[in-house]
Amino acid sequence: MQHTTDMGQLIISDLENIKKAALSDSDAVDSAAALEEWRVKYLGRKGSVPVLLRQVKEVPAADRAAVGAAANLLRQELTAEYYLVKGRQAQLVANKPQPSPHPRPLPEKGEGNHSAAGLLDAKLPANSGHLHPLTQTIRSLQAIMTGIGYSLVEGPLLEDTEHDFDNLNIGVEHPARAESDTFYVNGSIYPDNRRVMRTSTSSVQVRAVVELGLTPPFKIFSPGRVFRHENVDARHNHTFYQMEALSVGSNVTVADFKGVIETLFSEFFGTVVEARLRPHYFPFTEPSFEPDIRCIFCRDGCGMCKHTGWIEIGGAGMIHPQVLRNMNIDPAMYQGFAFGFGVERMAMLKHGIDDVRLFLGNDLRFLRQF
Ligand code: DAH
Repeated sequence: MQHTTDMGQLIISDLENIKKAALSDSDAVDSAAALEEWRVKYLGRKGSVPVLLRQVKEVPAADRAAVGAAANLLRQELTAEYYLVKGRQAQLVANKPQPSPHPRPLPEKGEGNHSAAGLLDAKLPANSGHLHPLTQTIRSLQAIMTGIGYSLVEGPLLEDTEHDFDNLNIGVEHPARAESDTFYVNGSIYPDNRRVMRTSTSSVQVRAVVELGLTPPFKIFSPGRVFRHENVDARHNHTFYQMEALSVGSNVTVADFKGVIETLFSEFFGTVVEARLRPHYFPFTEPSFEPDIRCIFCRDGCGMCKHTGWIEIGGAGMIHPQVLRNMNIDPAMYQGFAFGFGVERMAMLKHGIDDVRLFLGNDLRFLRQF
């Protein structure tokens, strides 16, 4: 009993020390590199807080809840501190006068009148541009996927119904085909309108395998833009990004899939992420599931995970035998998994963004924060 209290106490006082050190260290952070160092030191996979969090399970049961809550709270506080410092730095960079890459003489008074009109003021510091937050997100997902052996493939945004639906076992009566979800490019769905703005990156599956003549084993992924006739609100947009991935071979299992998403999202969020699979239905996979990852913000429930402790991340399953046949692959010899998820959602979780419309809104006050 004595031991229980001691260990719990010890960890809690460690947490307090880490917090003090982290907050005092963060005052000295004065560059993007220093901030990254700070993040790795305290929040990175081998950083002090995740290391302590992993020790929580060794704490005797009586103290575990209290210690776990304290450790999670610290992780949230330090994550908030990270974004605070990051935001402050972005502000500094935005405000700092920077030499124009193409120095031009200032306009004579009354001549270069753009500033009064609010259009162009040559005296304003030139802001250097940077990658859009979605591009940054896609590139980091891409780096992880190629790191674990997946090759990038791409498909057209304007698709035919064969690749967007038929090849994926989406029958003519499936609701996804309805006008309400799909942008048909000309005319009505029936009898033979063949062109749609692709409704998901799953349209790349059969196209890539057939066009590239891939034979198992292969591992591919495809990030890109998709379109749906949605009512736009904070969570839905008519244009958004997904990432699709596929692994086919003679011995590919659901366990491999779970390992891949745990690796992908652990790397992406910079913390150890656990996944679970809930049974679901998709026409192009059998069995199908919806993967969840354990909430990266809490242990027992918070607003981000709707108090469930788990966050939904997309759709997945073992590729349906008919879809394999459509790829000219013999389902008796090979099997594989496929998954797809929304890229905006990942960026929103990572950066605490609560409105998907911001990504396509072109508001510099938003964009400059990344
Ligand atoms: N295409 C699905 C969607 O847009 C996502 C998805 C589900 C992709 C299951 C997959 C999969 O590859 O196996 O909602």
